[in-house]
Amino acid sequence: MKHLLKLEDFPRAAIEEILSSATVLKAGRGAHTNLPLTGQTWAMIFSKSSTRTRVSFEIGIRELGGQVIFLNARDIQLGRGEPIKDTARVLGRMAHGAVIRTFAQSDVDEFARFSGIPTINALTDDEHPCQILTDIFTFEELRGSLRGKTVTFIGDGACNVPISWIFAAATYGFQLRIAAPPEFQPSKTLLERAGGDVHCCTDVREAVRGAHLLYTDVWVSMGKEDEAAERLALLKDYQINAETVALAHPEALVMHCLPAYRGKEIDEATFEANADTIFRQAENRLHVQKAILNWAVA
Ligand code: CP
Ligand code: NVA
Repeated sequence: MKHLLKLEDFPRAAIEEILSSATVLKAGRGAHTNLPLTGQTWAMIFSKSSTRTRVSFEIGIRELGGQVIFLNARDIQLGRGEPIKDTARVLGRMAHGAVIRTFAQSDVDEFARFSGIPTINALTDDEHPCQILTDIFTFEELRGSLRGKTVTFIGDGACNVPISWIFAAATYGFQLRIAAPPEFQPSKTLLERAGGDVHCCTDVREAVRGAHLLYTDVWVSMGKEDEAAERLALLKDYQINAETVALAHPEALVMHCLPAYRGKEIDEATFEANADTIFRQAENRLHVQKAILNWAVA
């Protein structure tokens, strides 16, 4: 049984297989002869909002021959306290796979353990693996191999997106720099667990110099809304703008997983100047997640 629960411990061979199959699926969109989800119905259980992840999985599952049911966690008994392991055992007897967006990583892990069906993490508080696989794919589409290059993440360095970048750096082989205020640095134990070439600092200029990819994410992740005022104050100098881009490699790409908050983690002019890359990233969620689904059922 194959699951994509997190990039921590996710093997490099699986990443390579997914990235190369995404290239084929993107080129052949609309003319797929292999429909590996034919006869299957996948359940998508979401406890948090989503535009890109929801739409790309719903369309991707259908394009691979499958059907999908979207379950807002608030509408099913899970939202009234039915345990994950019971929900998992019910869905596991009916659905053929699950895509889950929630808060605790342990809930996705537990679902996978009890359901007995392929389970994909569509974002937890700890990781966003589908996003980072897509970002690597997008970089390589535009600039060739990411191996040996430098990725700089600016902003909340302790949330799901940079954490998945940290684990990808070790497995895939690129340098990662994180510029974040002390309050939003990834934990030492996590960095030790990950290994790899990861450099964390508080100085944006130091982190950005010569980087091949500048990357940011929202300052206030889903579930952290109560901390918004404090976060906006502490993170105000951690923005991608013309000044940061000027210090990066001349061919540097600027990426954002979206949704973007202009004037916060990125300024309007820099966002729009890089909109082609950023929306290519969004589109590529579809192709890469189809490759993940293909991999999961093979
Ligand atoms: N980047 C991303 O996961 O977007 P959504 O929250 O819209 O799914
Ligand atoms: N860190 C963000 C990612 C959104 C796609 C969040 O968790 O809200």
